[in-house]
Amino acid sequence: MRIATKVLASALVLFAGVAIAEVEATDPVVIAQKDLMKSFGGAMKTLGGMASGEVAFDATAAEAAKATLVTGSADIHVKFEKAGNDPASEAKPEIWTNWDDFVKKADALNAAATAVDATSVDGIKAGMGAVGGACKDCHTTYRVAS
Ligand code: HEC
Repeated sequence: MRIATKVLASALVLFAGVAIAEVEATDPVVIAQKDLMKSFGGAMKTLGGMASGEVAFDATAAEAAKATLVTGSADIHVKFEKAGNDPASEAKPEIWTNWDDFVKKADALNAAATAVDATSVDGIKAGMGAVGGACKDCHTTYRVAS
């Protein structure tokens, strides 16, 4: 009984640690940056689900997800123009010292997303790799590993 209590107590400490590590952003600049990225995450989930067959193909939803990526990637340089000041930000300071390269990576996402043929599952499958690669390419350089 005593051991069980101890295990429970240490589990609670672990969970508390996780809660502290995931600080919510409060700076509106950083919130806007994260919201843009979250919209990309949602779009990729939609397209990925259709590509894997987990979700039934839906032309309207696929087109909307593509539009989120195309329009949103053209907005990266606007949302990231200024660095925020927030401990929750995972944006590396190198973004603002290598600004042209950062924008080039945003443009690469725009090109990859524009090239996706969202009218069929095969089209999504063919285009997803390049889109995912563009996300990863920027994150590797400009996002704090979490
Ligand atoms: C040009 C650079 C760039 C590209 C391209 C990019 N990201 Fe990001 N992403 C970032 C940066 C920088 C952050 C960290 C933002 C922060 O924590 O404030 C980030 C954070 C995120 C987050 C975490 C958001 C949060 O709530 O903390 C997700 C999810 C994400 N990106 C998804 C994507 C997906 C999916 C793609 C591709 C479709 C993508 N990103 C493309 C730079 C990029």
